[in-house]
Amino acid sequence: MKKTTSTFMKMKQELEKITMMTAYDAPTAHLVEEAEIDMILVGDSLGMVVLGYDSTIPVTVNDMLHHTKAVKRGATQTFIVTDMPYLSYHGEFQQTLELARTIMQEGGCNALKLEGAGEIVETVRKLTNAGIPIVGHLGLTPQSVGVLGGYRVQGKSALEAEKLIDDAKRLEEAGAFAIVVECVPEEVGKALANSCQIPIIGIGAGAETDGQVLVYHDLVGYGYGHVPKFVKQYTNIASPINKALVHYRKEVKAGQFPNKLQSFSMTEDQVQALYG
Ligand code: KIV
Ligand code: NA
Repeated sequence: MKKTTSTFMKMKQELEKITMMTAYDAPTAHLVEEAEIDMILVGDSLGMVVLGYDSTIPVTVNDMLHHTKAVKRGATQTFIVTDMPYLSYHGEFQQTLELARTIMQEGGCNALKLEGAGEIVETVRKLTNAGIPIVGHLGLTPQSVGVLGGYRVQGKSALEAEKLIDDAKRLEEAGAFAIVVECVPEEVGKALANSCQIPIIGIGAGAETDGQVLVYHDLVGYGYGHVPKFVKQYTNIASPINKALVHYRKEVKAGQFPNKLQSFSMTEDQVQALYG
């Protein structure tokens, strides 16, 4: 049965860890669904891991829509959360609402994720009131990388940690049904999970959050960029893929591919007719 926002709340209450994984295309979404992962995130990390940008800042609503549609086709039974991309929820609320509607209705996801607190809290409240389930995102918020001055651990002082807890409570009060917390000390991850009723889903936030999320390409070792400390590479698929590609090139150059097995043939009569 497809999970809902209340399933995730119940999982937290029953101390069942929530698993979330990113996916950006149909075959990956299908694999994630087959692995019985609880939730799929169509993250704007797609800008880096599949579109080749060096941050999430160039990602557009159309990019998110395009990939959400593909993920939805590959995983019809899994709860899908899609990121609202850079600067798509910071202006007039009517515009935010229209972009949110587009991603939800045309993309077919079940919820949207927004980074930050402050003024975003009211946006979360209004979107929730409009009937859109919202996931918050605190700690390292990659869309603000320019303001944060790089990708670094957040909430390291008691003061910063208190601010994070306060932000999380505000997002919860505004109606967010879960919060992703990225790159904070494990003590802060734990404190956040203890301070909120809603699930805290960590990435680089230690083992005591209510759930975990990772970027698919990091987990399977399919990429060429920097891999953060908080990633565990469960496999390295780049290596067998590279071997296969090199093997293919060599076989074609050597005239070994294709062979009879991969070729279609005519009957003797047809060959006669062809060559006379
Ligand atoms: O875009 C993304 O993949 C994310 C996760 C890192 C939480 O937001
Ligand atoms: Na993201």
